[in-house]
Amino acid sequence: MTPFVKAFFDPATFTVSYVVREPHGKACAIIDSVLDFDHASGRTNTESADKIIAYVQAEELNVEWILESHVHADHLSAAPYIQEKVGGKIGIGDHITIVQDTFGKVFNEGTEFQRDGSQFDSLFKEGDSFMIGQMRGDVLHTPGHTPACLTYVIGDAAFVGDTLFMPDFGTARCDFPGGSSETLYNSIQKILALPDETRIFVGHDYKAPGRDEYAWETTVGEQKALNIHVGAGKSIEDFVSMRDARDATLAMPRLILPSLQVNMRAGQMPPADEQGDVFLKIPVNKL
Ligand SMILES: [Fe+2]
Repeated sequence: MTPFVKAFFDPATFTVSYVVREPHGKACAIIDSVLDFDHASGRTNTESADKIIAYVQAEELNVEWILESHVHADHLSAAPYIQEKVGGKIGIGDHITIVQDTFGKVFNEGTEFQRDGSQFDSLFKEGDSFMIGQMRGDVLHTPGHTPACLTYVIGDAAFVGDTLFMPDFGTARCDFPGGSSETLYNSIQKILALPDETRIFVGHDYKAPGRDEYAWETTVGEQKALNIHVGAGKSIEDFVSMRDARDATLAMPRLILPSLQVNMRAGQMPPADEQGDVFLKIPVNKL
């Protein structure tokens, strides 16, 4: 089964969102959507999400799933907005509960913030499968970048979120709370065990030194041979020391504080106050 994959690149956050659809049908899933957010003004904007919605409507697709590869720290999810416009069930990994517990504490959310994943329509675990029309999706739990990261394998296409990036860029950081470079290395081995011709669609691209164009599609075979962090049989020891040293130099993503508060709620804003106003918190000296 070779699904048709349409990518939407957001240059503000370097995120790639995908619509994956049946080759000869109308069923589709939307993966890792973006709600635009201007940090300075605190304003949201639906331009990126509206492009996806316009595509889905123009092609008359049935949105069965709105999938998240993980709780993103660099952009807000547009899942609830898209769901309201075109339907679909919102799915994420069942280890979301760990992420909710961690950041529920960081943001002092109190008991009204449920940490059981109930904000999502479906919680997937390793080995689960689901249908998009006639197409089957299989779930790999691929933690390391975060505890809840999933890879969705749909036909010959693997949506790897933030595990592997393009071969010339390498891999995702592992220094967020609950992250682990050792765990990520082992998760990546699961992805690399897929057939060599499996298409890999990455969750971000930042270009790479010497490359002028954004890119987001590669294959398992190319990753195995060429990935600068894990390719050509790189050992776990080498990977862990490289990854940890590199992560120690990285700044926090610009939108991490708003992103986590919204994405751990399946893309919903925190509850409004008595006036109907919505606020996001900035925990001081916590991250
Ligand atoms: Fe991420």
